[in-house]
Amino acid sequence: MGFRNLQHQETRYSMGNVMKSVRCPVQLFSIVIVFMSLACFHSKQLQAQPDHPHPSTPSTMSQVSSDSFVPNPQLTDPALNKKVDALLSRMTLAEKVGQLVQFSSGTPTGPGTQRQGYDKMIAAGEVGSMLNVADPRKANAFQRIAMEKSRLHIPLIFGIDSIHGYRTIFPVPIGLASSFDPALVQATARMAAQEASADGVRWVFSPMVDIARDARWGRIVEGAGESPYLGSAMARAYVHGYQGTSLSNPDSVAACVKHFAAYGAVIAGREYNAVDMSDIMLRQVYLPPYQAAVDAGAATVMSSFNSLNSVPATADPYTLTDILRNEWHFGGFVVSDWGAVGELIAHGVALNSATAAQKAVLAGLDMDMESGVYQLRLATLVRTHEVPESAVDEAVRRVLRVKFALGLFDHPYVDENRPPYKVTPEKRALARKAADESIILLQNQAREGQPKLLPIASRVHTIALIGPLADSRTGMMGSWAGQGNPADAVTLRTALQQRMQGSGGKLLYAEGTQILTTSQTGFDAAKQAAEQSDLVVMALGENADTMTGEAASRAHLDLPGNQKQLLQAIVATGKPVVLVVVSGRPLVLNWASQNVPAILEAWFPGMEGGPALADILFGDTNPSAKLPVSFPRAVGQEPLYLAQFPTGRPATGVDASHPPTNGAEKYVSRYIDVSNSPLYPFGHGLSYTQFDYSPVTLSTDSVPVTQLMSSPNHGVAQPALHASAIVSNTGGVAGTEIVQLYIRIRGADVEQPVRVLEGFKRVTLQPGESRKVTFPLGFQELSFINTKSQRVVEPADYTVFVGGSSEAIESADFKVVQ
Ligand code: NOJ
Repeated sequence: MGFRNLQHQETRYSMGNVMKSVRCPVQLFSIVIVFMSLACFHSKQLQAQPDHPHPSTPSTMSQVSSDSFVPNPQLTDPALNKKVDALLSRMTLAEKVGQLVQFSSGTPTGPGTQRQGYDKMIAAGEVGSMLNVADPRKANAFQRIAMEKSRLHIPLIFGIDSIHGYRTIFPVPIGLASSFDPALVQATARMAAQEASADGVRWVFSPMVDIARDARWGRIVEGAGESPYLGSAMARAYVHGYQGTSLSNPDSVAACVKHFAAYGAVIAGREYNAVDMSDIMLRQVYLPPYQAAVDAGAATVMSSFNSLNSVPATADPYTLTDILRNEWHFGGFVVSDWGAVGELIAHGVALNSATAAQKAVLAGLDMDMESGVYQLRLATLVRTHEVPESAVDEAVRRVLRVKFALGLFDHPYVDENRPPYKVTPEKRALARKAADESIILLQNQAREGQPKLLPIASRVHTIALIGPLADSRTGMMGSWAGQGNPADAVTLRTALQQRMQGSGGKLLYAEGTQILTTSQTGFDAAKQAAEQSDLVVMALGENADTMTGEAASRAHLDLPGNQKQLLQAIVATGKPVVLVVVSGRPLVLNWASQNVPAILEAWFPGMEGGPALADILFGDTNPSAKLPVSFPRAVGQEPLYLAQFPTGRPATGVDASHPPTNGAEKYVSRYIDVSNSPLYPFGHGLSYTQFDYSPVTLSTDSVPVTQLMSSPNHGVAQPALHASAIVSNTGGVAGTEIVQLYIRIRGADVEQPVRVLEGFKRVTLQPGESRKVTFPLGFQELSFINTKSQRVVEPADYTVFVGGSSEAIESADFKVVQ
């Protein structure tokens, strides 16, 4: 997927056509900018995976022309579309509407509808898709009705939420993103695709690529965090993994990019809330990961629950048609989120279900998930000419295209007699690797003249393991763990127990408290365990199912219940404490950061989370993960993210650890009661070794704007310059560093964030080893959106930072000149 078929595709952004209409040089210049800006969006996605190019990504950019680009050539294949049109011409209006209807059978993933009678509806051709059917026998039974009893024998497409694995459960997506390892993420998605397709599910509602900058929003756990650059890399990786080399492979599943658009920016982090933002913000920050997924070939998109600038996304022609179809040339179909077409009434843009259906279908929303409104109203709307039949035809075409591309007409059934799912060593190995790479060492301090607390020293004989997440299988699996079975998860307690037995040490265990309780009845036993130990490991955090994921916004970001009190009680024993945070979002860890020497953020690490954590605690695995989101000091800082806009009154140099005492301290952009900075910044993550950076060098200090704008590809093959730094492992053990590149732009017409991630590379170095890491910088990295919603490069001053976190200090400057 993602292959750019250059010969056979329509020409877009054709300079020839543009030139015909040019009337003056000024107009020509602005047209060139628009041309480049549109084209660059596509080439931008090609740059994709600097470390792990996908096999289908063209190896040299010179093969790629930005003039012609089709995100998924399978869906525009003329032979396939001939079949689609032939079938469409035989369909009645009712059958057409049926293809646009999706119902859930199985565990509901939204407010239940109590609907029944699917067999009858499928036989009548009134249903095109089912969700939540995760059983091959059940899937085949429904499919048999569609194939044998419905008049046109059109197969159903079965979809499901497979968010971080299907049966083999990997770390939650925010954890996978912490690996900064797209190849790993692609491998996890591939495995999920194989497992889902073995159940007859050829469509997964993933990846969730919503940029999330507000830790209050429970769904921050489902995405890649705050950075469009990282989010885009992850988006591509998931799509490539799910869809494989061709949708028609029996073990490929169609990806569904969600939630379109900008769902992650819900006001105040409150679930299902509205979103309001500028077009610059939308295009520069929120849209790139969706587009990366579409450009990688994603076959479907899910509209979001939120309104965007006062228009509900499910009925928004700007996003669903202007951007998705006309700008990005998306050829697949759009499904609503659960019940969202019907919810247009609650949004207040439709007074009844007929208007809801009309507005959604005319905006470009193809399939109605669960609301039943299309089923109820669409045919009548066509008959009364309130919806042209051509709009329905187009939606049906898009759905049929995906069904044909998946090969469902030829292979509608799944093998019911395949061996049942088993966690093979291969599956465990991938889950372990993913957990190893996703657990972040937030801090690791030494206590009074002792070495750093981690890795655990060999002289530690007795460990007390305390906390409600220490022996929780569901806590390892995490929110929305697909069809995973908690019985397959290995907890930290089990893993540590095995290890201590092996080494002749002793593990004491006490739950201490529950995740959400006020009762302190377990505190004494926990304190006793701590007192008898050489070291305490505490596993504290959130309940995966009830506190994170959908419908789980929080206004408080502390450890829930009385876990902080338990932590304080154990720290008061004077024993050294390692805190393992198991959570689906950044928590406020101020007290812990000041009183606990070592802290790991485990997220929900998946079914191999326990062994992965044990290996990190003992140093058999050297942690490498980095934060894809900023950790706040106080909930009031949210939304908190690195790429803040500058202010006319920056607080630079002001000591914000106390309220202002004079004018210089007061009249700056700050809080009076907490500093602006995060507790742990984006990109932060420690290792058991030490990495040092040389000064940054640039291949040039001046780039003509015309060079950037005239490059046919704007991408990695023809970068305008290179930034390099030498990274050295100056510590005592081998380690993997995620080298990060950040950019700041000054002097453009539109103010730019203080720092933005524009590159990363994973580098493994032995002690004493050094490596030069080079980042290409071209139009993709250096461009931004102007006030006309165009992606441009302007003459400006650029600073490039390279280092191991967003606080990188090594930098170099260059100019983009006229
Ligand atoms: C609602 C969620 O928002 C979405 O992510 C999910 O895919 C659908 N329900 C289907 O379960």
